[in-house]
Amino acid sequence: MARRRRIYEGKAKVMFEGPEPGTLVQYFKDDATAFNNQKKGVINGKGVLNNRISEFIMLRLAEIGIPTHFIRALNMREQLVREVEIIPIEVVVRNVAAGSLSKRLGIAEGTALPRSIIEYYYKNDELGDPMVSEEHITAFGWATTQDLDDMVGLTVRVNDYLSGLFLGVGLKLIDFKLEFGRLFDENGDMRIVLADEISPDNCRLWDSKTGDKLDKDRFRQDLGNVREAYQEVARRLGVLPAEV
Ligand code: C5P
Repeated sequence: MARRRRIYEGKAKVMFEGPEPGTLVQYFKDDATAFNNQKKGVINGKGVLNNRISEFIMLRLAEIGIPTHFIRALNMREQLVREVEIIPIEVVVRNVAAGSLSKRLGIAEGTALPRSIIEYYYKNDELGDPMVSEEHITAFGWATTQDLDDMVGLTVRVNDYLSGLFLGVGLKLIDFKLEFGRLFDENGDMRIVLADEISPDNCRLWDSKTGDKLDKDRFRQDLGNVREAYQEVARRLGVLPAEV
């Protein structure tokens, strides 16, 4: 690890320079943060579990034609990804009320939403990732109208597919967050691809029978058995590593 150039260190991941131009190595840490960094902790083995879960999901999404930055897993904690220009917008999709939506609008957690709702947040730690509208995004040049159209189109497909995938293993996809990047080919043509990770760190997943929370809310809300919840998600998806 020490030999490689560190490009960026986030709360749960580190990006290193990759072996070939245009690639990066995405390293998954065990660190967990919540409430804009106010709560910090370590979940032993989380990095290994999220690496496996995210690899599995990115591969399934690629199979249905969703372009992603994922190339291949390298080892227990690392994956090779394409270098993209990250769009500084977090796209959140909600199927059931929970988290900040419940808090902000006073809608009881667990209330099914009349339709899936998409929200945008501006990625900025100092500002606490404020919610923004399409108008803000295009006016300030964080993404174009075309970028946003592409992002929303992909997000709707990801939500449909993942809702079914998780339901098939007894999990309800309550909400989740996606990040996108611009990928440029050798001719300079650009397309929007899914970036970052998809794991219990950025999805809410409830057991469809018992309603048990099997995601980062166990850490946020001090519910205990955080690692066990992530293990259970990996087990149900058929990707639980023997070592964790
Ligand atoms: O906190 P909130 O209810 O807005 O989160 C909605 C969804 O987006 C949750 O699944 C949460 O895990 C995810 N999220 C995230 N990163 C953030 C904010 C939210 O992964 N910075």
